[in-house]
Amino acid sequence: MSKGLKIVTIGGGSSYTPELIEGFIKYHEELPVSEIWLVDIEAGKEKLEIVGDLARRMIEKAGVNIEVHLTLDRKKALKNADYVTTQLRVGQLAARALDEKIPLKHGVIGQETNGPGGLFKAFRTIPVILDIAREMEEVCPDAWLINFTNPAGMVTEAVLRHSNITKIIGLCNVPIGMERGVADLMGVEPSRVRIDFAGLNHMVYGLDVFVDGESVKDQIIKLITDPAKAVTMKNIHAMGWEPEFLKALNLFPCPYHNYYYKTGDVLAQELKDAENGETRAEVVQRLEAELFELYKDKDLAIKPPQLEERGGAYYSDAAVRLIRSMHTDKCDIQAVNTINQGSIEGIPYESAIETSCVITKDGPKPINVGKLPVAVRGLIQQIKSFERVAIEAAVTGNYDTALLALTINPLVPSDRVAKLILDEMLEAHKDYLPQFFEEKELQD
Ligand code: G6P
Repeated sequence: MSKGLKIVTIGGGSSYTPELIEGFIKYHEELPVSEIWLVDIEAGKEKLEIVGDLARRMIEKAGVNIEVHLTLDRKKALKNADYVTTQLRVGQLAARALDEKIPLKHGVIGQETNGPGGLFKAFRTIPVILDIAREMEEVCPDAWLINFTNPAGMVTEAVLRHSNITKIIGLCNVPIGMERGVADLMGVEPSRVRIDFAGLNHMVYGLDVFVDGESVKDQIIKLITDPAKAVTMKNIHAMGWEPEFLKALNLFPCPYHNYYYKTGDVLAQELKDAENGETRAEVVQRLEAELFELYKDKDLAIKPPQLEERGGAYYSDAAVRLIRSMHTDKCDIQAVNTINQGSIEGIPYESAIETSCVITKDGPKPINVGKLPVAVRGLIQQIKSFERVAIEAAVTGNYDTALLALTINPLVPSDRVAKLILDEMLEAHKDYLPQFFEEKELQD
């Protein structure tokens, strides 16, 4: 019998881990995983043990043969891995709270993957992911890196352009969430829905939407104008759309488009939430505490339904479906973040895009999109420019490049405001941004 697969999950102490374990249990027959290594850092040790125990109980209850290993030794875990998944959060939720709150003080949206928050999450995360890529090159050069860590598009592109790893896929639950949203609106099973996706991570559009192969895009575009029927995620308030706008756009926007097409409304809502102690980081901090209390219960051996209150709900379906299709060379279509290779015109060849791909054993093959509609082409290119400059700043730690990135972000009103936010955030996140401070300290 051939050896089963070795999966390594970095950030294994995350409250999302039971999601992933549930997926590996569900698809165990098609995807013969034999070992899951959950890796975390010293500060996450307690959570790792709680989540690891729950994972073991879930596996035992399901009666599948998967060994769960817990470790703080990342390199040891990575050795001979087949698939490495990353779900880490540098600075944990306390850093996210700063990403959300500091921009708000300056009248700018505070969000963990958009605007200044997204920029700083990239600054904290990219060097760590590049370290992981270097270790993988050494001890598991044939493994695939499946990255969930946000900002997933920028992290994927940073690995593609600044490491020797080519086997990287960025994965997000937004596409699968949009498919499930359509399924709910149409009263059908999600497997009957197909969406042709194109764009960037958290900036992806449905170019067309099908149920059983028939386009339902016009219907969906009408339905989602009603806030009660908006297709969204737990972390984004449902707001609805102006019907004439959406009809003219003629695309199915993702929940994150609220930040760009309803900037003022979202900002007002965020300011209200902040006043009530309800920023997303605060909500998630409370939810996490509740989840970890549940996870400690020795009688719990399933993923608790409360986990579906997180924005990343169902990401295991996306993850396990992807790994299964690669392992079995299924050649089905899934939306992932991968190298453009000319499939979207106007985006650099080597950049990461989020798009519908054929999933093969050799990885995702993007389906050709060609030109995007003119109304969205500019925004996508502007976000891509922001991402590229942001990655350069994350890698070099250059202050001026960081200011350039922040100023060209569409959510930031001026270079002056950008500088105020940048200075305050650099100071607040200092401990996690050695690339911006080490050289300066040497010069002093
Ligand atoms: C969405 C996004 C994820 C993000 C999550 C945040 O689902 O697609 O990229 O991590 O929301 O959820 P949270 O519960 O942490 O606010």
